[in-house]
Parts: sequence; C-alpha cells; structure tokens
Amino acid sequence: MAARSRTALRFLREVVTAVRREAPRTSSSAPRLSGNEYDVDGLTEEDTIAAYRALKDEFDYFNVIAGTSASSGGATHIAAPPMTVKNAYMAPYAHRLKQTLGKPVFVAGRINQPQEAERIVAEGAADMCGMTTAR
Ligand SMILES: Cc1cc2nc3c(=O)[nH]c(=O)nc-3n(C[C@H](O)[C@H](O)[C@H](O)COP(=O)(O)O)c2cc1C
Repeated sequence: MAARSRTALRFLREVVTAVRREAPRTSSSAPRLSGNEYDVDGLTEEDTIAAYRALKDEFDYFNVIAGTSASSGGATHIAAPPMTVKNAYMAPYAHRLKQTLGKPVFVAGRINQPQEAERIVAEGAADMCGMTTAR
C-alpha cells in the first residue's frame, strides 16, 4: 500500500476508534469520504480505494464526494463544485468503489437532474445520489 494510503488509513482508523468509543455500533453507520482530493499532493483514486478497502468491514455503506480542505484547488470541490466540473463526475468512482467493496455506496457531486440520479442508480454505479446545490 502506498505511503499516502497508509496515512489516510491511519487517520481514518483513529477517527473510527474515537467514534466507536462514544457511539458503539448499534445502528447503521457510514463515513463521508473523498474519493479523489484533486490536489497535486492529495490522495488519488488509487490511494483512497486502497485505504477504504481496508475499512470495508467497519461500515454498512460508504458515502463519497471529492476534494480536500487542505488546498484552495481541492476545496473547490468541497462547498460546491462549479459548472466547469463535469456532471456526475464522481459516479464512475462510486461504481469502482462499490465493485471493490461489495457494499452500498452513496455519491454526490454535480448530479443536477433527477433523471441523472435515476440513471446512476439504474446502471448500478451507486445506491443513492446526493443533490446539494444541483447546479
Ligand atoms: C453550504 C454548503 C455546506 C456544505 N457542508 C458540507 C459539510 O458540512 N460536509 C460535507 O461533507 N459536505 C458539505 N458540503 C458539500 C455538499 O454536501 C456536496 O458534497 C457538494 O456540494 C457536491 O454536491 P452538489 O454538486 O450536488 O452540490 C456543503 C456544500 C454546501 C454548498
């Protein structure tokens, strides 16, 4: 596993341990995670797939978005990706993660029309779509 994946995984494990200490696993739980930080020094899809695979049994489903608050470029994706970003751009990643983990995956990011969300679910790329700004 690449060094960046190991760093991401260590941080996530620490978060999971702290959360479980306060809230034992009695109900459905899922993390919202960035699939691609879109930053020169950030996590790539390869990095995140490797890290999330190691966490597969910790959660009931995974909720994926993009970006990072560590840089201004990566943060573009955090609040709301702009119109220059391709529609439903994280759906292919969601599909890949879903196939890798064999668990339900939710996805958000430039899914702007209900029919687009329907298509993503119908094609089996994700199990649920988030539409936040829908622009
Ligand atoms: C005002 C605002 C606040 C947000 N706060 C959060 C947040 O606290 N946690 C989070 O994971 N995403 C947050 N987001 C990101 C959205 O949930 C979503 O991932 C992002 O806007 C991409 O989806 P969209 O293209 O449908 O807007 C926020 C977005 C906006 C516009």
